[in-house]
Amino acid sequence: MKFAVDRRDALAGSVDVAVSAFTERGEKDEPLPRLLVKEDEALDGLLTAAWKRREIKGRKAEITVFHRPDGRGRLLLVGLGAKATHDAEAVRRAAASAVKALKGRGARTIGFRLATFTGEGVPTETATRAIADGTLLGAYEFLRYRATAEAGVEEGTVFLGEEHGREEAALRRALDQELTLLDSVIWTRDLINLPADTATPERLAEEARHVAKEYGLKVTVFDEKKLEELHCGGILAVGSGSIHPPRMVIVEYGGGARSGKTVAVVGKGITFDSGGISIKPALAMQEMKFDKSGACVALGIVRAAAALKLPPKVIAVMACAENLPSGSSYRPGDVVRTYNGKTIEVLNTDAEGRVVLADALGYVVDKYHPDEVIDLATLTGAEVVALGDDTGALIATDEKLAKGLLSASAITGEPLWRMPLTDFHRELVKSDIADVRNHTELSVAGVLTASAFLETFVGKTAWAHLDIAGPSYTTPSTRKYQPPYQSIGATAFGLRAVTTYLRDGSP
Ligand code: BES
Ligand code: MN
Ligand code: ZN
Repeated sequence: MKFAVDRRDALAGSVDVAVSAFTERGEKDEPLPRLLVKEDEALDGLLTAAWKRREIKGRKAEITVFHRPDGRGRLLLVGLGAKATHDAEAVRRAAASAVKALKGRGARTIGFRLATFTGEGVPTETATRAIADGTLLGAYEFLRYRATAEAGVEEGTVFLGEEHGREEAALRRALDQELTLLDSVIWTRDLINLPADTATPERLAEEARHVAKEYGLKVTVFDEKKLEELHCGGILAVGSGSIHPPRMVIVEYGGGARSGKTVAVVGKGITFDSGGISIKPALAMQEMKFDKSGACVALGIVRAAAALKLPPKVIAVMACAENLPSGSSYRPGDVVRTYNGKTIEVLNTDAEGRVVLADALGYVVDKYHPDEVIDLATLTGAEVVALGDDTGALIATDEKLAKGLLSASAITGEPLWRMPLTDFHRELVKSDIADVRNHTELSVAGVLTASAFLETFVGKTAWAHLDIAGPSYTTPSTRKYQPPYQSIGATAFGLRAVTTYLRDGSP
């Protein structure tokens, strides 16, 4: 989609649909807000009439479309919800609601009147970025396997008008950065949405090679032979039941600052998680094609970091394998030796994410000595039970890193909730015959026992773990509770937050 800022007036009539926003009105019969007087003029007073009838209230996602009497297109009014909750997220959702409402309604070009989207705590730059987020992510659809698609909005413009025309240069710069970030989000969603027959571990490696070539990055792919040499017994065990062999993929971005820090971003890349011998029930098993979200998001992050020329060095590591039952699968009771020599007693082959991450974390810490490690993984069903489909779990052993990620996630509207890691959880993952076990006898604190397991392989390096099992994808049934810019399928959750953290650092 084309998207730009323009100094002209949104209501001058150069787009199919002009979009203006307003916050929720009170119970009293107050006059039309001053901010909407221009809209009312373009509508020859129709807006005032609708306002007096209390036809429009400004509730979240409330959409009203007027046809301009002068024939210069349509005017869409969208509600932002209560004034007290007017923030970037409200703007993101309003823009996405508008774009979704216009799908298939003959609107090729739309223009947002910026002055109506700003507010206390939502300055012009924040509003411009949020409008771009809502428009591009709200319009996103995975169309690869469809013969036909209904036409939607193809071109968006943020109109600055007389109120903000002087800020054009700064807003254009901010928008350019946001569009670069969104390009990686959309690219990553497309990759995650591919089904497991197509997105094999080798295909993910191939995508990483493409990214590396396009952005001039270093890429290393370990195939099953090399993984054997490196004693990566975890990733090999998990991948052993599939005809598609496992891969560990490393993409390195050298950083935009001469003496910047090095951040490793490690992702779980299970291209399909059937559970293996500890097989999952049939219900909703198709969702497990999204179990590669973490690895794809890690790749998307290094892609975005390179495109934005962010200061830190970034080492993205993708731990890719397919978890299937077969005569060659790993089994409950097996003990596997991982890269750093630590052993894992496998008690459940469906707790495979932590097993592939054991090798990836051990490797990156040993070889690169990163200042910080951030991993992303659709790791546990317990995360979905604990926090639902919109929030990721954050477990961190470093306060600064935790603060930085939380503040970035507040900026991007990808909610994270920090959970505590204690010795209780560490005790639970101790094994009778190996260094750790991948399943515990008590079914408690699944997010945290998984974290305690991972911590074993990170050691003392500053580390944050993002369990994104809930928010990494939406289904037709969860979709209606999600923000309107999360379309059905992959969300690439965490990509904007972690990239924003790489940009801003800790507060
Ligand atoms: N990929 C799943 C976790 C998951 C569940 C992600 C639902 C997204 C939605 C993971 O590999 C898994 O199967 N975890 C098990 C762990 C258990 C056996 C300790 C789980 O959560 O049930
Ligand atoms: Mn599993
Ligand atoms: Zn899994």
